[in-house]
Amino acid sequence: MPAFSFPKEALIGTAALGAVAVAGFLAGRRCSRLHFGTPKTSPFEKNGPLQQYVLNHSLREHPVLKKLRLMTSKYHNGFMMVSCDEAQLLANLAKLIRAKKAIEVGVFTGYNTLNMALVLPEDGRVVACDVNEEYASIGRPLWKEAGVEHKIDLRIKPAIETLDELLANDEAETFDFAFIDADKESYDDYYEKCLRLIRKGGIIAIDNVLWGGRVLKPASNDIAQKMHQLNEKIFHDPRVVVSMIGMWDGLTLAFKL
Ligand SMILES: C[S@@+](CC[C@H](N)C(=O)[O-])C[C@H]1O[C@@H](n2cnc3c(N)ncnc32)[C@H](O)[C@@H]1O
Repeated sequence: MPAFSFPKEALIGTAALGAVAVAGFLAGRRCSRLHFGTPKTSPFEKNGPLQQYVLNHSLREHPVLKKLRLMTSKYHNGFMMVSCDEAQLLANLAKLIRAKKAIEVGVFTGYNTLNMALVLPEDGRVVACDVNEEYASIGRPLWKEAGVEHKIDLRIKPAIETLDELLANDEAETFDFAFIDADKESYDDYYEKCLRLIRKGGIIAIDNVLWGGRVLKPASNDIAQKMHQLNEKIFHDPRVVVSMIGMWDGLTLAFKL
């Protein structure tokens, strides 16, 4: 194999991201609620016509996913939900690499957990990690309604413990996809553990990597500093190839070599 050779799926995924990255950079927002603000120069005003056009011409949301999104957006912490366009990108990538096993670090009401379960094969599995059972109980009836509850392995405990359990259970290099979207303090640990759990050619997606733009002034804020350090580390990490997308609050996609 040539020195710079890496799995076909990673190449395809990286190429497919080019177009998505541009659209994502311009979009910079979530569907139901603006979380971190959009640059004033962006033509994508909150719920504005261009953003709506993008969604009208790309979002193919499963009806139960839509139901969960609308239900969650009315919830007082609804802003924590992943955006529907970002989730669709993750599902498309998972489909492209024929993912069978996925990890969700930070479930909330389970929009992306359901989103992933819908694209996994019948014998696929999402290990869904959260500390809050109340949030997950909102989504669970809809996981059932969508007919994919059997693919979701919800574990209510700190995600670090669940990831360690998976490693102790000899599941290293058996997962295809991981989405990190929980407490920001632990992102580096989540990244390292997920990197061990993911197979070569697998993908780790990391949300909120721009931390509302505060990564530009990392000294101003502890989380911004940690996020900036992680961004620097992944940028130079020879174990992965990477794309950072300016979609919403920033999404890093690390493709394991
Ligand atoms: C931004 S929300 C996740 C959104 C979700 N990915 C979605 O599809 O909408 C963050 C979640 O991380 C969870 N969380 C916070 N600390 C955690 C920890 N130490 N371990 C696991 N989950 C945690 C919170 O309870 C919350 O539900």
